[in-house]
Amino acid sequence: MDRPLFSFTLLSLLLLSLMSLSWMSWAWTAPNCSIGDSSLLHSISYYIPFCPLAPGLHLFASCFNIKDLAQTLRAVPRDIEALCLQGTVPILPANAFRHFSTLQLLRLQLGTIRVTSGTFQGLDQLQHLSFEHHTPCCLSLFLPPDSLEPLTFLNTLSFHGYCLNNSQNVRLPISLSHLTMKHSCLTELQELQGLFPNLVPGSSLTASPRPQTPFLEVLDLSANLQLSRVGGQALHGLQLHSLKLDGTPLSASDLPDSGLLHLDSLYLVGTGVEKLPENVTGYFGLRALDLGRNQIQNLEAEDLLSCRSLELLSLHANGLQLIPSSFLSALPQLQRLNLSVNKLGPTLVLPEGLVSSSLRALDLSHNELCILPYKAFSSLPQLQELWLSGNNISNLSSESLEGLRWLKTLDLSWNQIKVLNPGCFSSLSALTSLNLLGTHLEHFPGKHLQGSQKLSHLQLGSTEMLEIYPPWPSALLSLELWASSSITLRVPSGEPFLFLENLTIQTNYVLLSPFYPTLHFPSLRHLTLRGCSHDIFSGRQPQGVFSQLPLLEHLHFWSDHQGAEGLYLSGMPRLRVLELGDLDFLYKPRSVQLEMLLKDLPQLQVLALSNLNLRNLSISSFRGLDPLQLLLLNSEWALELDSSLQELIPQMPQYVYFSDITFTCQCESSWMGPWATRAPNTFVYGLEKSICKANASDYSQTLLLSFLSDHCPHDLEFQSFLTSFTLVLLLTFLALLGCPKWPWLHHLRTLFHAWWWKLCGQHPRNQFHYDVFVSYCEQDQAWVLEELVPALEKPLPEGEGLRLCLPERDFGVGQDRMDAMAASMESSRATLCVLSCQALGSFWCNLELRLATHNLVARPGTACLLLLFLEPIDRRQLHSYHRLGQWLKKEDYFDLSQGRIDWDAFCKQLRKRLKTAGREGED
Ligand SMILES: *[C@@H]1O[C@H](CO)[C@@H](O)[C@H](O)[C@H]1NC(C)=O
Ligand SMILES: *[C@@H]1O[C@H](CO)[C@@H](O)[C@H](O)[C@H]1NC(C)=O
Ligand SMILES: *[C@@H]1O[C@H](CO)[C@@H](O)[C@H](O)[C@H]1NC(C)=O
Ligand SMILES: *[C@@H]1O[C@H](CO)[C@@H](O)[C@H](O)[C@H]1NC(C)=O
Ligand SMILES: *[C@@H]1O[C@H](CO)[C@@H](O)[C@H](O)[C@H]1NC(C)=O
Ligand SMILES: *[C@@H]1O[C@H](CO)[C@@H](O)[C@H](O)[C@H]1NC(C)=O
Ligand SMILES: *[C@@H]1O[C@H](CO)[C@@H](O)[C@H](O)[C@H]1NC(C)=O
Repeated sequence: MDRPLFSFTLLSLLLLSLMSLSWMSWAWTAPNCSIGDSSLLHSISYYIPFCPLAPGLHLFASCFNIKDLAQTLRAVPRDIEALCLQGTVPILPANAFRHFSTLQLLRLQLGTIRVTSGTFQGLDQLQHLSFEHHTPCCLSLFLPPDSLEPLTFLNTLSFHGYCLNNSQNVRLPISLSHLTMKHSCLTELQELQGLFPNLVPGSSLTASPRPQTPFLEVLDLSANLQLSRVGGQALHGLQLHSLKLDGTPLSASDLPDSGLLHLDSLYLVGTGVEKLPENVTGYFGLRALDLGRNQIQNLEAEDLLSCRSLELLSLHANGLQLIPSSFLSALPQLQRLNLSVNKLGPTLVLPEGLVSSSLRALDLSHNELCILPYKAFSSLPQLQELWLSGNNISNLSSESLEGLRWLKTLDLSWNQIKVLNPGCFSSLSALTSLNLLGTHLEHFPGKHLQGSQKLSHLQLGSTEMLEIYPPWPSALLSLELWASSSITLRVPSGEPFLFLENLTIQTNYVLLSPFYPTLHFPSLRHLTLRGCSHDIFSGRQPQGVFSQLPLLEHLHFWSDHQGAEGLYLSGMPRLRVLELGDLDFLYKPRSVQLEMLLKDLPQLQVLALSNLNLRNLSISSFRGLDPLQLLLLNSEWALELDSSLQELIPQMPQYVYFSDITFTCQCESSWMGPWATRAPNTFVYGLEKSICKANASDYSQTLLLSFLSDHCPHDLEFQSFLTSFTLVLLLTFLALLGCPKWPWLHHLRTLFHAWWWKLCGQHPRNQFHYDVFVSYCEQDQAWVLEELVPALEKPLPEGEGLRLCLPERDFGVGQDRMDAMAASMESSRATLCVLSCQALGSFWCNLELRLATHNLVARPGTACLLLLFLEPIDRRQLHSYHRLGQWLKKEDYFDLSQGRIDWDAFCKQLRKRLKTAGREGED
């Protein structure tokens, strides 16, 4: 291929891909949808509508009130992993989701829908599909027989609140392992045969052509209120692990008639049974049986006879009063026994059993227990988990826990514990996790835990106050402390928290011993503080509890509704996620600036601010927060977003959420309308629903966006910003098309470095060809060439003059002015704009000023813009250029409008400024 043709093709390709790229990113905002990445902020569901995710999935879109599916989906990013759709969509057309090839979870709440054969075409990575309709039961759903066939990777299929009466012969993907039909019109199990013939082929006359072993992990038929009959051999040939029949009237003892040969686990929660269903347990050799929320108040010894195979038994919430003495010997395989929420108290009487009882986990929570007798658990030597939460235990002695040599998890939370006898945990040498939340302990000496050297997770809580003494368990990985008024930590010398990764504190005041005024947490990664007074982070000693947190990544700090004065977040160089709530930034006597708080957090990616009474946000709040990817504002009143924030648009975080925000109705925010609907690269959520108030007594519930469009002149500034951006892009390509020489490749690259929104931020330092790029208009050219240039280029007595770049002089002949300009600015240490009234009216000067401003915003610290005023100019005229005032320092202005010019002083100031510019860029 000859060169011009080749480069032309290459160029067209580039142009096309660029166009499509830019169109795609224009359409970021998806109306009626929230889009997010739950790996950035785990608690995101607390703030914005969320899509319940399967493990490992993070990127989601959750859309509401959908009427036009195609329109909604057009605005959803293509690479999401989970999609939840709610609304009324009568028909799902073929290929409705074909663009979402990475989709793994799809949840549809779309009312009465018709699925067509090709609806799910292209979703070959989909693992979870659900159709849901919540009350009233049930809607009709038609599935064409081949509709699920494209889903070759489908693992979970779920119908909730739908009747499938009209569907027949639906072929299930063989990868399926969980099938759920809740709240449907099923009346007998046999209906499944007609519906999903390849699920139960054994009994079906039209056996599937491909012989396969039908296998399901879980069949969940809960909450089918009319499902009362099995029907002969309804599930014959199905290999099934678990069957869930919670809340159905089906009699479990009929299950052997279903033809099922194998079953591991059976769930019969809330079915009203009064006796253990012994036949079925024995018939299948069940390993797990869940009988929660039934009425089994007595266990008869003979009921247990056929239950020998059970490894897990739950009798949660049955009103059970007594366990028969033969219980443990009748269930020799039992490993987990859940007896929570029964009436076994006040004195625990556990049946004597074989000493070889294999029980590993015992849940006795909420049983009104008061007394744990001497050696209460001696018959359970293998016990690893003991749950005793929510009882009335007030006095714990070592004797009652004796013999639990393998116990790893002990939950004693929410009891009436007032004293712990010394050494009460001393026999628990394998303990790793201890929960003592909700006690009445006021003093906790660490020596209680001395026998448990492996303790890694500790939760301690008291109703009023809590004082903790050394020695601390040395292997702690996570620690949670609660007390309503104060927690006093008596910390010895040395580093007791060497390995601690997670710390949660919920209290008003944290007090330290006066001899050790700060704590060291060299390994801490997650810190959660709730209700704490803000001086926990005070810069002033001795109040500040935390000094250095070198590995901290996540700080979640909900304060006590007091002022933020003195709050100081420093020494956390790795902080990625900051959630702040319930502080008052405008608290008298001195309001606090957000930027002061954030200035030492160079790695911050996520900032969630809740109920802080911020009132005003401007660009200075976010200066230096380049890595920010998610900004969330929650629960603010009378918020003003300063128009200076539009400077940040090219660098806005990828996700910006507004939740429960009331704005002030003012045209200063008029940039937000176009921004929210057309912001490139940023997904904005929550502005459509936000209201604004003119003043405190305005109850009109005006929608912010309607206010802006009705009362404010169109924001020309933003429009022109976008226009000039697009214009430059277009002009560049037109220019390139006209000059198919190789140098354009280089310019193209530099241009993108200078222009492409975010890339600009990461542009590498290069050598500067020039010190100053001088921008001026034709009318000022004479002054520039005759006075300014000689003064600046004149060598100093001891050195060289400045190297200037002048468009008229230094741009190559025939070179395109646009790309030459971008490239020269890039390779100049500073840009000096000579401003006069004519200059403000000149196209090129405007463009150069805009480009320089953009560089300034996109590369703070590296780019340098200097303004030289040749005549008095109304600063407001200049302000319209992206609020330059916010970005420039005093030394960046040179005012020569007063007539006489002291060239020496001027050059000195300029050189000084250039020197600092160079240095800023280098560090
Ligand atoms: C978005 O929701 C509104 C109602 O809140 C609805 O009128 C509109 O049609 C929805 N948009 C789409 C694209 O479905
Ligand atoms: C589906 O079956 C149930 C129970 O037989 C019946 O009540 C309901 O009317 C049927 N629905 C349709 C749409 O046929
Ligand atoms: C279940 O046990 C009862 C007696 O306990 C017996 O009458 C019934 O026939 C048994 N049912 C099956 C299916 O074995
Ligand atoms: C016991 O059952 C209840 C209700 O299903 C459940 O919440 C609890 O976690 C179970 N306990 C254990 C130790 O699994
Ligand atoms: C448990 O303790 C509480 C408070 O001490 C008391 O009100 C309640 O009656 C006790 N319950 C039983 C069953 O002893
Ligand atoms: C706690 O129980 C032990 C016996 O289990 C008893 O000796 C002791 O007096 C009790 N202490 C209190 C304060 O009730
Ligand atoms: C610390 O907390 C995080 C987030 O809640 C969790 O993923 C991690 O497993 C916890 N680490 C420890 C040691 O408990």
